Amino acid sequence: MILKSGKEILEKAKQNGYAVGAFNFSNLEQLKAILLACEEMKSDVIVQTSPSAIKYMGIDVVVPMVESIAKNLSISVCLNLDHGKDFDLVKQCIDMGYTNVMIDASDLPFEQNVELTKKCVDYAHEHNVSVEAELGSLKGVEDEVVAKESVYTNPKLAKEFVEKTGVDSLAVSIGTSHGAYKFKGESHLDIERLKEIKSQIDIPFVLHGASSVSDELKSMFIASGGEIGNAKGVSNQNLIESIKNGICKVNVDTDLRIAFTTGIRECLKDKTIFNPRDYLLKGMDMIKEEVKRKVGILNMK
Ligand code: G3H
Ligand code: 13P
Ligand code: ZN
Repeated sequence: MILKSGKEILEKAKQNGYAVGAFNFSNLEQLKAILLACEEMKSDVIVQTSPSAIKYMGIDVVVPMVESIAKNLSISVCLNLDHGKDFDLVKQCIDMGYTNVMIDASDLPFEQNVELTKKCVDYAHEHNVSVEAELGSLKGVEDEVVAKESVYTNPKLAKEFVEKTGVDSLAVSIGTSHGAYKFKGESHLDIERLKEIKSQIDIPFVLHGASSVSDELKSMFIASGGEIGNAKGVSNQNLIESIKNGICKVNVDTDLRIAFTTGIRECLKDKTIFNPRDYLLKGMDMIKEEVKRKVGILNMK
């Protein structure tokens, strides 16, 4: 089999105390840039597609595209369904050749989340595919309107959830959110909560919403003509702390979107350019640099 299961890649990371980058893609250029950067870094990688990315690309092309690049690489590559919301899509991805699936039923009441997750786990495990699920919700709590307890992962419930479902990895909510605008003030994660979860459960944990939106990346985006206001991501220090406490998979989409767009917009300042390969290659170069920066951080101890 060309692609490796998420379980295989993440258990190795857990045993050795590092995290694997899980990068989202929506086209060939993003995928290629991610895989080539990880090959250069000699780092295993998870590439993933959201349901909307699958709709954009067409599911038929995704697996062959990933396999045909991965087969020439020395690193282990896993293809994950990111934020699958229903059993039909989970099943379709498994049948097509995805090697990890995420069932995100975190919006449902606990018992329904357990039931749907268990159904996906049973089908996935019959096909040697591993499963990530989510408990807690990734909404920001910046305004303190929503109480932390109703949003962040509850350690006791998490233990019950993992025991009842048999999931291979668990996405925890400890203060991150998706997109470029995660914090109004400084980056901060609930590491104490993560420690408590880790003391109860012995599987790899996943950090969603882990883009850094670094000052350097923001400056390049702005210099290319972009506008990004008060964007703020997860600090490197917070990432490293979370990895020390059990995070083995770090999900990044926003940083690569910003990088890709920056490269393309910078290139298109030259108004004579009209060959898509010229500007797409610049976008790919920017993604490669960002992936290498991120992978360097994920391997720090
Ligand atoms: O987890 C969220 C990802 O950034 C996917 O976003 O649905 O726009 O592809 P998307
Ligand atoms: P970011 O928006 O921080 O890149 O998070 C991506 C993610 O969690 C994909 O599942
Ligand atoms: Zn996510």
